[in-house]
Amino acid sequence: MNSKLKRFGVAIPRDLLNRFDKYIKSKNYKNRSEAIRDLIRAEFVKESWVSDKIVAGSISIVYNHQKRELVDKIVDVQHNYQKLIISSLHIHLDHHHCLEVIIVKGKASLIKQLKDNLSSMKGVQHGTLSITSSL
Ligand code: NI
Repeated sequence: MNSKLKRFGVAIPRDLLNRFDKYIKSKNYKNRSEAIRDLIRAEFVKESWVSDKIVAGSISIVYNHQKRELVDKIVDVQHNYQKLIISSLHIHLDHHHCLEVIIVKGKASLIKQLKDNLSSMKGVQHGTLSITSSL
């Protein structure tokens, strides 16, 4: 951590704190401080997505590559959003299915648009968007 740590006191109802301690134990946190820091960071990431800031993340799609037009369409869409795409990974899951993971960075609204364009295609069986960080 490069920034200096500051301490602050928090008053919290006992039952809420008990719940929080159970939560952080189940998530394997060693102490409350790191858990609170992560929750705050996660909230800021969420906020960046809502306010359409520059963000990074990944889009994963699963599709059947035997539908030839679908593969062409998936490639076309990715070329249309080429400025957002940093990298992509293609994995042949089995005889029929491919998994593609597309790493993106750019305006949150455009990333959502790209994800929606891909996952709404007929033949794309699953599409997820994972948000990583605000920049
Ligand atoms: Ni494949």
